[in-house]
Amino acid sequence: MLHDPNRVYVFDTTLRDGEQVPGCQLTTPEKIEIARELEALGVDIIEAGFPVSSPGDFQSVVEISKAVSSPTVCALTRANKGDIDAAIEALKYAKHPRIHTGIGSSDMHIKHKFNSTREEILERAVEAVKYAKRGVEDIEFYAEDAGRADIHFLAKMVEAVIAAGATVVNIPDTNGYCLPEQYGSKIRFLKENVKNIDKAIISVHCHNDLGLATANSIAGLQNGARQIEGTINGIGERAGNTSIEEVVMILKTHQSIGLHTQIKSQRIFEISRLVSTQMRMPVQPNKAIVGGNAFAHSSGIHQDGFLKMRENYEIIRPEDVGFPSATIVLTARSGRHALKFHLERLGFKLEKEELADAYHRFLTLADGKLDITDDDLRALVVNQEVRG
Ligand code: KIV
Ligand code: ZN
Repeated sequence: MLHDPNRVYVFDTTLRDGEQVPGCQLTTPEKIEIARELEALGVDIIEAGFPVSSPGDFQSVVEISKAVSSPTVCALTRANKGDIDAAIEALKYAKHPRIHTGIGSSDMHIKHKFNSTREEILERAVEAVKYAKRGVEDIEFYAEDAGRADIHFLAKMVEAVIAAGATVVNIPDTNGYCLPEQYGSKIRFLKENVKNIDKAIISVHCHNDLGLATANSIAGLQNGARQIEGTINGIGERAGNTSIEEVVMILKTHQSIGLHTQIKSQRIFEISRLVSTQMRMPVQPNKAIVGGNAFAHSSGIHQDGFLKMRENYEIIRPEDVGFPSATIVLTARSGRHALKFHLERLGFKLEKEELADAYHRFLTLADGKLDITDDDLRALVVNQEVRG
């Protein structure tokens, strides 16, 4: 089934789990624009929406199905016929359609959400997969709240849905509860104990309630999962989902893990800003990979080391994620080396003593001013006077 055992499939749910965030709702044309960018980025699967949830969501799935051709287009459902019928209908123009159906798997959800029993839930899970299979060949099953589910029941559920025709089994840590070691062990247990597991791909879908979504996703991949679900900029319910850009760059940076995706990483920054703008959701400056400060060096010690050799303080090259360039930020913590770098950039080559004088004046300026502009630097040298 898998040609390359080390290939990781990337499943983007920015337009479904991401779009559920209050204030992040998009119009259909906005979703289409993002879907086209996701296609250009190289994602394998786009979760386009939850068709039964509203006429707008239904229409978005229809239009995205028409707009993209390489990625699989996926539609979410609960485990019932009405949801599945709506998804089949919405996906009718998709070149590669997938239905994502599922139900709760933890005792917490079984008792307190479904008021049901393990046996009944298992039956509904199997029925949903069989029903969806009538309309679409590619069926992904999600075992909601798998992070807190009993592992033996989870294994039984996974085996039953694969036997019913599921091609992908999603093991969500819906509440972002697990530690990486626990989540990794869950995936390993399924890989080693579910007898038909080789007939499906295991998918990881982690939430970030404890800040562990990316770490848990990587643990899942290291233990046998081959699909990762996440969003651009890590947006999503509550504290968000796994950030796709983080997982992609971890696998690139740590080649020793031995896994790879087909994401064109140079396009990451562009789509990050598109999603942020469309969803009116700013990217925090210190966000890994795509934050405004991700490649900004501001302390004197770091700036000096960076200017001697960028690899001293850079494990990812900004151009590898399409980031405009690394920046040396001038602040009162900057050293002479950083000032020299910026003055030379502006065409000023100073002797040692002139630089020492300019640095002295610079520190006085930087103590009282947050943004040091190129004009301030020119004034430092040309007029030898400081305007704060
Ligand atoms: O977090 C979750 O469990 C989900 C499922 C619907 C896949 O988003
Ligand atoms: Zn989710």
